[in-house]
Amino acid sequence: MTQRARWDESAPFGAASEHDDLEDFRAGEDMVRPFEAAEMGSVTGKSLLHLQCRLGHEALAWARRGASRVVGLDSSESAVEAARDLAADLGLPPDRASFVAADVYDAAGAVPDSAYDIVYTGPGALCRLPDLVRWAETAASLVAPSGFLYLADFHPLASSLIADDFSGDGSYPDFEGWGRQHTLGDVVTAVAATGLRLDFLHEHDGTHASVPLMYSLRASHAAGS
Ligand SMILES: C[S@@+](CC[C@H](N)C(=O)[O-])C[C@H]1O[C@@H](n2cnc3c(N)ncnc32)[C@H](O)[C@@H]1O
Repeated sequence: MTQRARWDESAPFGAASEHDDLEDFRAGEDMVRPFEAAEMGSVTGKSLLHLQCRLGHEALAWARRGASRVVGLDSSESAVEAARDLAADLGLPPDRASFVAADVYDAAGAVPDSAYDIVYTGPGALCRLPDLVRWAETAASLVAPSGFLYLADFHPLASSLIADDFSGDGSYPDFEGWGRQHTLGDVVTAVAATGLRLDFLHEHDGTHASVPLMYSLRASHAAGS
């Protein structure tokens, strides 16, 4: 089964299993992580592209925080349909929030605008991708001249602890089959190779034996480039 087929199959289940969370979101719960809000700054009036948006709630959370236009992309048709439904439920018209089904590597030809103030990728996305260099090139090509690329993801150290904790006991669904363990070095090097300048790489504290649970990075066009 291809990666895309696997996600197409799992998205309706994901939507159903997260029904309560999305109900809370529909009811107004802000699902933006505090560190993301602090690091991204105000999104008011900005355009934002969320690559690998799944059910769209993260993209729509930025719309609710004032982004003038959010576009989400995911390879799963059923996830994109769920995201469109969610946007409609929130009363956001397509010019404020739209979703496209496409492979992330084809994003430049699939999304409605040639550049965005913020190109965002959230947790659990990169481990689905075999080619970080192509991902970074694609994402960077869509960053507006005064915009930035922002990534928040699970820290590789935390992911490996989770895999160790759960491997073999049957309680975690085939972690090895789900993800590729890209290192922080792989991610930073792929972003740096695009010509974007790294603004920061932050590791966020967790409670698990003082291992950082998440990391985030921001990269932007160097002044004058
Ligand atoms: C774990 S989700 C992360 C989404 C988001 N951070 C969230 O928590 O809802 C990963 C998403 O990547 C998508 N995906 C995997 N491979 C992809 C690809 N090559 N192009 C576009 N989307 C892809 C999947 O369909 C899935 O919705």
